[in-house]
Amino acid sequence: MSAFDAARARADFPIFNRRVRGKPLVYLDSAATTQKPNSVIKALTAYYERTNANIHRGVHTLAEEGEKVIEESRAKAARFVNAESPSNMVFVRNTTEAINLVAHGWARKHMRPGEEVLVTELEHHSNLVPWQLLAKDKGVRLRQVPVDAEGRVTAEAARRTITPKTRLFAFSAMSNALGTLSPVADLVKVAHDSGALALVDGAQWVPHMKTDVRAWGCDFLAFSGHKMLAPAGVGFLYGKPEVLEKMDPFLGGGGMIQEVWFERSTWNTVPHRFEAGTPSLGDCAAFGAAVDYLEACGMDALRAHEEALTLKLLEVLRGEAGVTVYGPSDPKERGGVVSFNVEGVHPHDVGQVFDSEGVAVRVGHHCCQPLMRKLQTGGTARASLYLYNTEEDVAAFARGLKKVKEFFKVGAKA
Ligand code: ALA
Repeated sequence: MSAFDAARARADFPIFNRRVRGKPLVYLDSAATTQKPNSVIKALTAYYERTNANIHRGVHTLAEEGEKVIEESRAKAARFVNAESPSNMVFVRNTTEAINLVAHGWARKHMRPGEEVLVTELEHHSNLVPWQLLAKDKGVRLRQVPVDAEGRVTAEAARRTITPKTRLFAFSAMSNALGTLSPVADLVKVAHDSGALALVDGAQWVPHMKTDVRAWGCDFLAFSGHKMLAPAGVGFLYGKPEVLEKMDPFLGGGGMIQEVWFERSTWNTVPHRFEAGTPSLGDCAAFGAAVDYLEACGMDALRAHEEALTLKLLEVLRGEAGVTVYGPSDPKERGGVVSFNVEGVHPHDVGQVFDSEGVAVRVGHHCCQPLMRKLQTGGTARASLYLYNTEEDVAAFARGLKKVKEFFKVGAKA
């Protein structure tokens, strides 16, 4: 196993004190949302117990303290993804909102009818539906890069699909459904070589692996706090400085203006131009504690730990008759997400049997219905890992799988 001490980290997460159906909780659903360490929960409650005030609106002590802690979170987010400066980081609620901000603030302003947004066949609905809405409103075309038989997106396939009309290539760095890791820098280059901007959906990548927006060269990066130990309700859109400057606001209201007259307004500087209304204060404050926790773990150590556990999960599944595993066969080409089906058993039934063992997995289409259709399935069961998972969790997963097969007599001789 890797050097990372997951058993020790686990002690920082109070949820693991509880039992589910009389068994210790085995949480294999971190791709949906992650559990929270004490330090994050403490930072959240501390905001409301000691600091609570609105920000950018007051000169009293609490307002100044609140602003300081929230702006520190922004600065930590910038450092975490190696952004040029904290002003490149826009507070949003989540990845979905970040992508919608690009659709409204950039694409609606800069794209013309007949121009194209390129996505891939791997995308979550949040990186598809905003572009469908845009296509309907603005007459732009939506096109997709096909994935190969193992669910991989290659730069060659992207190069074959992109056209001079493509203005934006929006793709996920890591698939939430299959775990596939994409060659991000290569895909960004494909976009730029063709004169398009590149938007990276980092919802599944940023929490698990080192992220360097400047090495990638991407124009936008969207990610959520709740998938990286922070509370739900806070996430970020990173944008290149020159790109953010040329964007229109998405939501209008307090905080995003410079001056308002009755019939018109001027806009605040970036990033505040995109942050109308009171943000989710405590969540924004606690985001910084999540970054501190991850940095103390070390992102390379986390990746090594998850890669080792992913290999073990794949070993459990691959030997089993009647089990189909989706996504790349090489664990180096995937993050800690493993989707599978058991022959003749609905994924929801698989999920319920796992739950009876205290094991939480996600089932269904994973907000990727077009991808599921391509895989010729209505859905899958999905186990997803994080820093608090251990070899014991994989052993519990193996017991759950055995129970599914026994219960539904999968692989039994007629
Ligand atoms: N995008 C989240 C998932 O994959 C909700 O489960």
